[in-house]
Amino acid sequence: MGRFGQKLAASIVGAVAASGMAFAAPADNVAKGRAIAFSTAQGNCLACHKIPGGELPGEIGPDLAGLKTRYPNRADIVAILQDETRRNPLTAMPPFGRDRLLTQQEIQDVVDFLETL
Ligand code: HEC
Repeated sequence: MGRFGQKLAASIVGAVAASGMAFAAPADNVAKGRAIAFSTAQGNCLACHKIPGGELPGEIGPDLAGLKTRYPNRADIVAILQDETRRNPLTAMPPFGRDRLLTQQEIQDVVDFLETL
């Protein structure tokens, strides 16, 4: 695309990021979180949860659509991903943070994605 094209693309991305998304997570963190959540090798959240945009979901856990309206505090969502056994010792949900199934950065990215649902 050439130097000018790259600069132009970068400024468009910057402008999009600066507009309308003032309080939202950066788009690439959301995209990373979505990929982690949907990957069978990583979060594999679709094995148990219906998630908008995800295919062939399981029905072991609740539908995650509109999650932010149920959990307005980000810390509550992070805590569920860290170790849901603290709220429910019998949960089927793996303790992603506690057992290091995901890194702390991956958990933050997944939460960025979940907050867009
Ligand atoms: C093996 C099944 C399973 C997997 C895999 C799983 N979960 Fe869960 N999840 C559950 C169950 C069951 C619940 C219901 C609450 C409980 O059991 O304590 C739950 C609850 C939740 C909740 C709270 C929802 C609400 O409305 O209260 C969130 C958020 C959540 N899971 C996110 C995720 C994410 C993100 C992933 C992937 C990184 C994931 N879960 C992977 C089974 C699973």
